Amino acid sequence: MMERLTLRVAGIASAAREALVVELRDPAGGELPPFTPGAHIELHLPDGLVRQYSLCDDARRRDRYRVGVGLAPASRGGSRYIHQELRVGDLLEVTPPRNHFPLCEDATELVFFAGGIGITPILSMILWCEANDRPWHLFYLVRSRERAAFLEPFAAYADKVTLHTDEEAGALFDVAATVARLPAQAHLYTCGPMPLMLAVEAAAKKYPAEQVHFEWFSPRQIDPAQADAPFTLKLARSGQCLEVPADRSILQVLEANGVRVESSCREGTCASCETRVLSGVPEHRDSVLSTAERSSNRTLMVCVSRACSAVLELDL
Ligand code: FES
Repeated sequence: MMERLTLRVAGIASAAREALVVELRDPAGGELPPFTPGAHIELHLPDGLVRQYSLCDDARRRDRYRVGVGLAPASRGGSRYIHQELRVGDLLEVTPPRNHFPLCEDATELVFFAGGIGITPILSMILWCEANDRPWHLFYLVRSRERAAFLEPFAAYADKVTLHTDEEAGALFDVAATVARLPAQAHLYTCGPMPLMLAVEAAAKKYPAEQVHFEWFSPRQIDPAQADAPFTLKLARSGQCLEVPADRSILQVLEANGVRVESSCREGTCASCETRVLSGVPEHRDSVLSTAERSSNRTLMVCVSRACSAVLELDL
């Protein structure tokens, strides 16, 4: 279990319509654990709610964490609590930064697609690019200008930012045409709503998988044709064998048998339940592992992923 920090809410500010920036600091003024661009933290909210938010700050800062929080239209309580109840001075339990959306520091050209509040990890990446003199361009896509957070910091880089508002353009942004014009060596980073992610994924098929990076907010849709088959789970440390029926997840079976595994989102987006695979073939259904990580089959997310083989052996 990852150790949690107790941090004080040092500031809450409006960043755009229905988007807040929450600043967290150590109550004693101490340094915070470091992070890299693209990292997120987990906020532990009342009623057992745990939510991941990307850090939107300069990664060299150790005195604060800043996260951007959009009010989710179908909020299950997390963003609504932060928007309506959270106050400056409150103490929050925070899981330290983890990064499943890391920047390729060797990339010679970086292209960012940010939709709405998906700008938060991208902002941290752009600050890194500026500090390290890397060429970058941002396509920032929002419904209307009032919904665009962080326009102020971007004002200094006007020639590197393409802001598209559906309202002003009277149309959606043409992702396919834009991606088709990008240079072959570009690394593409996308964070935003599902339609944007899927559009970039479809348009970027010509790129090697290691050049196309996504931060999924919500779980990728599972192909309905993918039937759930039962399989046997072998736990290497205890030697236990457990049957995973078609209608239960690995995580549910582990919990029902008293095997403790860290978990948070339970929908394949946070990676807190990542577990090492020792033998067998996983059927990955998460939204965090990169294509290369998936094909290595070294780990899987036990909350959603299953097995293609009859037996799957885990390091548990
Ligand atoms: S609990 Fe979040 S990926 Fe499994």
